[in-house]
Amino acid sequence: MAGKNISGKDEEQERRALMMEKIDMGAVLEAKEVYDAVMQSFPTTLGKSVSKKERDELGLKDASLVYGEITFETFAIVMEKIKKVYGLPFTNSCGPAGMLQSRGGIFYDLGSGTGKPVIAAAICHNFDVCYGIEVLEGLYSMSLDAMNIYNTKGKARLAGRSTDTCKLTSG
Ligand SMILES: C[S@@+](CC[C@H](N)C(=O)[O-])C[C@H]1O[C@@H](n2cnc3c(N)ncnc32)[C@H](O)[C@@H]1O
Repeated sequence: MAGKNISGKDEEQERRALMMEKIDMGAVLEAKEVYDAVMQSFPTTLGKSVSKKERDELGLKDASLVYGEITFETFAIVMEKIKKVYGLPFTNSCGPAGMLQSRGGIFYDLGSGTGKPVIAAAICHNFDVCYGIEVLEGLYSMSLDAMNIYNTKGKARLAGRSTDTCKLTSG
């Protein structure tokens, strides 16, 4: 359990405050503008209703198919924490290259819904490839629409994103 330090502050609170100081919230908010512009036609309510309709029609009851989504800001802050703290070279189980310390790498989302984490990942970091796999056809189809908007309008607003790195699969 976290204790109090000499100034009476809760150690856990202090650790979190120090972490947030390292995070570039300006970069998170800039990236969010690009993300919001790409995803504005895909509110969570739409993904939920498309998913529910298909599950009802097909009689799919498995709880793992219930729909929910990431929020961009939370996702982007996690990426920032990896870049600035947890993924530094020789930190945790990272080797000399660290994690997300330079361009490249592969991102996977198994159960990619309308493609939000795949597109968020492509915006937050210059990955080689961002893969998404979605089993429900309606959601998969929407994710292709979202990816097309990212490819035609979103990535032009980001440095170094010349190729189409998002790869979505139905399955
Ligand atoms: C909680 S949602 C998350 C959607 C997305 N990853 C996000 O965070 O915005 C889980 C998704 O996984 C899909 N799913 C569940 N099991 C799957 C499987 N075995 N293969 C592919 N997709 C699956 C569901 O249809 C659903 O769209």
